[in-house]
Amino acid sequence: MTKKLWGGRFQKSAEEWVDEFGASISFDQELVFEDIEGSIAHVTMLGETGILTKEEMDQIKTGLEVLKKKAEAGEIEYSTSLEDIHLNLEKALIDSIGPVGGKLHTGRSRNDQVATDMHLYLKKQVKEIIGLISQFQSVLVEKADKHKETIAPGYTHLQRAQPISFGHHLMTYFWMLQRDKERYQEGLKRIDVSPLGAGALAGTTFPIDRKRSAELLGFSAVYQNSIDAVSDRDFILEFLSASSILMMHMSRFAEEIILWSSQEFRFVEMDDTFSTGSSIMPQKKNPDMAELIRGKTGRVYGNLFSLLTILKGIPLAYNKDMQEDKEGMFDTVHTVLGSLKIFAGMVDTMTVNEDRMKDAVNNDFSNATELADYLAAKGIPFREAHEITGKLVFTCIQKNCFLLDLSMEELKEASNVIEEDIYGVLSPYEAVKRRKSLGGTGFDQVEKQIQAAKELLK
Ligand code: ARG
Repeated sequence: MTKKLWGGRFQKSAEEWVDEFGASISFDQELVFEDIEGSIAHVTMLGETGILTKEEMDQIKTGLEVLKKKAEAGEIEYSTSLEDIHLNLEKALIDSIGPVGGKLHTGRSRNDQVATDMHLYLKKQVKEIIGLISQFQSVLVEKADKHKETIAPGYTHLQRAQPISFGHHLMTYFWMLQRDKERYQEGLKRIDVSPLGAGALAGTTFPIDRKRSAELLGFSAVYQNSIDAVSDRDFILEFLSASSILMMHMSRFAEEIILWSSQEFRFVEMDDTFSTGSSIMPQKKNPDMAELIRGKTGRVYGNLFSLLTILKGIPLAYNKDMQEDKEGMFDTVHTVLGSLKIFAGMVDTMTVNEDRMKDAVNNDFSNATELADYLAAKGIPFREAHEITGKLVFTCIQKNCFLLDLSMEELKEASNVIEEDIYGVLSPYEAVKRRKSLGGTGFDQVEKQIQAAKELLK
């Protein structure tokens, strides 16, 4: 059994299975580089302020650089009895450079150390996520641009509602992702704050320079209250909440893709590279990746709820409960990064079946609003126009045809203001084109959106 770094006060050591329960090394080794980075900044500050001699500082720094190389090569052996990444690395440092390594922890506690690691980690990962959102957005803009004039059925209640530009539909997700990105960016402000130097909770008697270590780590600010610095994880909660919303958006899109790829819709076909087959049914092509993203949304929500629950009842300052903050954060980072990458690839390579969509809008009543609007524009109160149109739809259903199949006589019979131009008005293409209101599905409005989106992506 490895001797504990905090073993002085203890007469007996815990049994292995107890150690195992308390340890976090199996997962917090993901923080290895952040932990080393934090230590290098801390020891640099200790040297600069004269708390350690320059020689001690140099020795420790060199030792840490060696550890970093070893970590990069995957050569560090972690031990459960050393509990976590912080104690494992400290022990490895002491083993490699001798007792002077024990001076690294001067004026620091694992409590501010772990918080620092998490801030550093999340700052890096959130930037990565933001980058991937932008890539996904570019794919969407490109697809939307291509399908500006592709007419598709628009739905409410999953019932055909009004024809829309398929590009317009795709751009909806662009804007959702834009807000997701802004949420992450907003959260970054609070991630970008250094807890280092807060100590266990009360600060330290050593003349440390917190602003200097923060500066060395690239943080824009320091926590103003040492207890706050080590007690809260709201920066992670914000991350989990932004991630939950992003996953919710992707899950809705995934659901649409799954529906659209079904034989009932056949609006899109997923590329083979993003689909799987069945072990028994030879004809199957399953949109597994979209389903997985929809499914993985659940674990991200779970991670948010888990951390909210972990934090809700703990008194200030650090409590071991907080060790439970990590797996959900790591898992969310991996899930979000993976989902964004997959989704962008999926949309980029999917085939849009324009004919199927056109067929759909030509064989439904989604142009009924056009007729009602046409009558209203001719002075008939909209309620009445709605009623007249509804009756015509009913006639069609009985005759097993669509509005465009009705003869001039039949239309005139319903309302004598109807003229020959109605046939143009009822065409789905025209219906889309004429929706020129700001943000509407009219082609020039979609074009405007696309231009604005490209501007944002610059
Ligand atoms: N492994 C611990 C965690 O992740 C590090 C902090 C430990 N602090 C302590 N006072 N036991 O929360």
